[in-house]
Amino acid sequence: MEKQAMKFLITAGPTREPLDPVRFLSNRSTGKMGFALAYAAVQAGHEVTLIAGPVTLESPEGVRRVDVETALEMLSAVEKNLPDADVYISCAAVADWRPATYSPVKLKKSGMDGELRLVRNPDILKTIRPQKGNRIFVGFAAETGMPEAEAKRKMLEKGLDFIVANDVTMPGAGFATDTNCVTLLFPNGEKSFLTLRSKLEIAKEIVSRIERLR
Ligand code: C5P
Repeated sequence: MEKQAMKFLITAGPTREPLDPVRFLSNRSTGKMGFALAYAAVQAGHEVTLIAGPVTLESPEGVRRVDVETALEMLSAVEKNLPDADVYISCAAVADWRPATYSPVKLKKSGMDGELRLVRNPDILKTIRPQKGNRIFVGFAAETGMPEAEAKRKMLEKGLDFIVANDVTMPGAGFATDTNCVTLLFPNGEKSFLTLRSKLEIAKEIVSRIERLR
C-alpha cells in the first residue's frame, strides 16, 4: 500500500516568560528533538509546520517555521495551525509558570523585594484536546528518574495516542544532547524501548510509529 503524506504540526524548544525587557524564566530545552522530528517527517514525505520557541537551530529545509516566545504565543500558534494538521507532536518544553506581571521597563534592583509572583500557563495539550477529532496526538515526558509512571499518567490525562518518556538525568539523554534514550508508551499498555541513539534515529522511529497508527 502506498504511504499517505500527512500534515504534521510540531512544537519544539523552550518557551521564555518575560519579567521585563531583559529578564525571563525558561528551561534547558534546545529544540534538538523537535527539530529532528521536523526533519524526519519532511524526509518521509510529509508536510511540516514547526512552531519553535527561542532556539538557535536552523530550520530543516522544506519545513514551514513559526517562531514564538511565550507559552501563550505558542498556544495561539498551535490553535491557529491545528485545523490543518493530521498529527500534532508536542515536543516543546512549555514553561508551566509565567511572572504574574510584566514590566515594560527594566525593573530596578532597589524596587525588587526578592518575591516573584507567578501564574500558571495553560496546558496546550489539554486546551486543544476537544479539537483532537481523529488527529494523532503525541506528547513527551521528560522526567528526572523513573519516567514511566508519570508519563503514563500524562498520556491518559492529555488524551494522547502515545507518549515519549525519557529520564533526562541519564547520560546521553535529554536536553542539549545529540542522542536520546526513550520509551514509547501506548494507552493499550504496549511499550517500546529505544536504546541510546541519535535524536534523528529516535525521530525516524516516532514518525514511522505515527505512520503505522494512520
Ligand atoms: O510539562 P509536562 O511534563 O506536563 O509535558 C508533557 C507534555 O505536555 C509535553 O508533550 C508538553 O509539550 C506538553 N505540555 C503542554 N503545555 C504545557 C506543558 C506541557 O502542551 N503547558
